[in-house]
Amino acid sequence: LYRAGITGIGVALPEKRLTNHDLEKMVDTSDEWIVTRTGIRERRIVTDGERTSDLATRAAERALLDAGVAAEQLDMIIVASVTPDLTFPPTACLVQERIGASKAACFDLEATCSGFVYGVSVAAQFIMTGAYQKVLVIGAETLSTITDYTDRNTCVLFGDGAGAAVIERVPEEFGILSFELGADGSGAELLKREHTAAIEMNGREVFKFATRTMGEAAKRVMNKAGWESQDVNLLVPHQANVRIIEEARRRTGLKEEQVYVNIHKYGNTSSATIPIALREALDEGRLKTGDRVVLVAFGGGMTWAAMALVW
Ligand code: ACO
Repeated sequence: LYRAGITGIGVALPEKRLTNHDLEKMVDTSDEWIVTRTGIRERRIVTDGERTSDLATRAAERALLDAGVAAEQLDMIIVASVTPDLTFPPTACLVQERIGASKAACFDLEATCSGFVYGVSVAAQFIMTGAYQKVLVIGAETLSTITDYTDRNTCVLFGDGAGAAVIERVPEEFGILSFELGADGSGAELLKREHTAAIEMNGREVFKFATRTMGEAAKRVMNKAGWESQDVNLLVPHQANVRIIEEARRRTGLKEEQVYVNIHKYGNTSSATIPIALREALDEGRLKTGDRVVLVAFGGGMTWAAMALVW
């Protein structure tokens, strides 16, 4: 088997910021409550009918540029999203047309907030076997379009954004060493959206599931990679709540400086949080070639996914 890794990352975020102070005018909440309970200060929100495929396309173009890969070279595009433009065709096909990836196979993958790590894991199998050479995985969401802005329990949490990653064959000393994908359908009622309705959530139960599974899954992929907690350069968790991240960190035995957090700027953008965090960690010099990185996510389903890779 060949080794698969992430060779380029691109991000797209809407311009408009929705701050906690804006939300104070919309529902009975306060900046203080939101910051202490979630860590979120503002989130980005689409305007002028901007759709998931618009964000996905911009992120895709930037990821391709970052990797030095031309759209025509792509063998496959996977879009992970709970907010596709349409029920069908897949958002991946809309992106394909707009970037000109004419020979790419295209499909959407729905694994809620775990979708990006699920997508990278799927892409990696094609690269590892040599079946495909270049795959684009995109996590893209316009959660604001399915959020009830009269429900303070949920509307303070979510934001819009997209992140894309190019997956290719990499030298033996780099790339994905281990991954774990999981699901527990008995929790399907805890976090859901019925057709045309808004997100519904049992916050407390989701919180409990998240802290338990993120910590345990991260530890298992570290073990499989042969890493102790001090070997990890950066844990990049799904950004849903800073208290969930803190609890997962504690359970994996990592120090605060080993964990990347940017939830204060974007809130929970579901499948987009991890690629957005990776891009910012790279830009800030927190993530460098050769670093040992752990990704871990959870989401509705319930689902979870984790991965250990050398950057
Ligand atoms: N402002 C003010 N008060 C609020 C707000 C708000 N925005 N939201 C809830 N409250 C109130 C509640 O009504 C409750 O009041 P009550 O005691 O009178 O009933 C009180 O605050 C405390 O509520 P708790 O649920 O105990 O608050 P908690 O500290 O658990 O935080 C939160 C709630 C932030 C939702 C937390 O449970 C959480 O983050 N859960 C996980 C949610 C999550 O990550 N969901 C996304 C998953 S990813 C995906 O697939 C999209």
